Amino acid sequence: MPNLSVRPERMDGARVLVTGGAGFIGSHLVDRLVVRNEVTVIDDLSTGTLRNLGRARGKVHLKKASVLETDTLAGAMEGQQTVYHLAAKTSVPESVAKPDAYWRTNVEGTVGVLKAAADAGVGRVVFVSSAAVYGNSPEMPKVESMRPDPASPYATTKMVGEFACEEIRGMTGIETVVVRLFNAYGPRQDPSAPYSGVVAKFCAAIAAHRPLEIYGDGEQTRDFLFVADIAEGLELAGTQPVNGVTLNMGSGEAFTVNEVVRLLSEIAGEPIRVTRKPERPGDVGHSRADVSRAKERLGFTARTSVREGLKKTLEDARKRSSRSS
Ligand SMILES: NC(=O)c1ccc[n+]([C@@H]2O[C@H](COP(=O)([O-])OP(=O)(O)OC[C@H]3O[C@@H](n4cnc5c(N)ncnc54)[C@H](O)[C@@H]3O)[C@@H](O)[C@H]2O)c1
Repeated sequence: MPNLSVRPERMDGARVLVTGGAGFIGSHLVDRLVVRNEVTVIDDLSTGTLRNLGRARGKVHLKKASVLETDTLAGAMEGQQTVYHLAAKTSVPESVAKPDAYWRTNVEGTVGVLKAAADAGVGRVVFVSSAAVYGNSPEMPKVESMRPDPASPYATTKMVGEFACEEIRGMTGIETVVVRLFNAYGPRQDPSAPYSGVVAKFCAAIAAHRPLEIYGDGEQTRDFLFVADIAEGLELAGTQPVNGVTLNMGSGEAFTVNEVVRLLSEIAGEPIRVTRKPERPGDVGHSRADVSRAKERLGFTARTSVREGLKKTLEDARKRSSRSS
């Protein structure tokens, strides 16, 4: 076992840049870090919103800009110790329709962030990649040593981003860490896009008294990780001795979509109407992370049970729904 006590688990008094910090996951990371650190966000607000940064308002430096704007990026990097790179286009089907746009933001954007960070003497870049790099192979759980097998332009851009981390770390000596996230869920996740997270869609539907749409038989599985746990895991990826390491971040447990509906029905305290739809082409059948490396190297395990996380997510969806009605 490595000695985890050599570096503090908490980031304290550091200067941190979060790209994509106004997004769903980025804003939770900002909320966590801003308490003890000086945090700057660079976000073009293409899918993120200022509302997501409401809790951090007045405490965070916000640059509304794209990571593709090299001058702004270079300025934002000055004096930063750690960079979390989350800015990305994130929809698998949109990436099939618009592969060039995905290549530009996710590959050129990531290379730009890495180069700017190295030029500015940043200590470490944590790159948020995705379980999508594993593709559709039936092998379970997904272990970091498996050969990537991307099945969409989105997955390919994430895989290339991972390789860019390797390249720039080798050439410049900057520290890089790759985190492969599994299925994130929790408050603030946008339910409106056609392929947004299933939990966000279900909670929004319950809050609006609409039926839930289940594609296929509902027996497909996902490894759901609550967003506050992700923020904790990312903080650890920024502080622990994991330079050059690729880490899965998931719960290690597989839940079927039908189980999620059953739990939500119990939490909501009311029967839930369901509409069955045909299976969608391209949907991954099953997904589950091997979480042993994150446990061993970061001391990270998911703290929030799926029931507790679903309860918090449904509460948030109901609040949002009552605000908009
Ligand atoms: N949500 C998940 O389940 C999941 C799973 C695996 C990986 N990820 C990764 O986590 C990261 C965050 O995803 P999210 O779910 O919070 O999505 P999100 O869309 O809420 O966040 C992405 C953020 O990046 C910003 N952005 C996009 N293009 C930009 C650009 N060119 N310059 C600056 N900012 C830009 C958006 O405005 C948004 O705030 C992404 O890199 C995504 O690929 C998410």
